[in-house]
Amino acid sequence: MFLARMAYYSRPVWDSRSPEARRKMLKGILSAGIHNNPQAGLTGALVFDGIHFIQILEGMRSRVWATFKRIESDPRHCDVVLAGFLEVPERLFPNFAVMAPADGATFKHRVAIPDPDVATFDMLVAYAARHFREQKDLRLVSSKRKEPAA
Ligand SMILES: Cc1cc2nc3c(=O)[nH]c(=O)nc-3n(C[C@H](O)[C@H](O)[C@H](O)COP(=O)(O)O)c2cc1C
Repeated sequence: MFLARMAYYSRPVWDSRSPEARRKMLKGILSAGIHNNPQAGLTGALVFDGIHFIQILEGMRSRVWATFKRIESDPRHCDVVLAGFLEVPERLFPNFAVMAPADGATFKHRVAIPDPDVATFDMLVAYAARHFREQKDLRLVSSKRKEPAA
């Protein structure tokens, strides 16, 4: 099996101005990943910094690509840019993980890569990993990888 790692970034398309509705949309997005990715053997990270989504997906090449195609056509975001798709020897993210607001917290503008258009693939991956170590007012939601059925 070829293990692949990909990264893309995009911007949310909000269906409402209300913070509650926005939270609900983010929750819907993250629960799709939490539900689907472990079954497909996918791991990675989904980061939302207030401006961009940055997502890293790792797993079997065909499954990473199939999931990315679904994600790309999702109307809840736009300007989806594929930043890299590489064959890698091992996973950097052992589970699929997203950051969700802890009770009462909201997604605020966070220290982000100012312009992902000028960030290399490695910078985006490192940023996602750092984001997970440093955000204290968010809680980590993650789910463990399962081996996909053959
Ligand atoms: C920013 C963003 C990230 C997403 N990440 C994932 C993901 O990691 N895995 C996934 O299955 N769906 C993800 N989705 C949702 C997919 O676009 C799609 O709605 C979902 O996979 C459909 O799943 P379903 O067939 O179970 O309803 C994401 C959507 C957005 C907007």
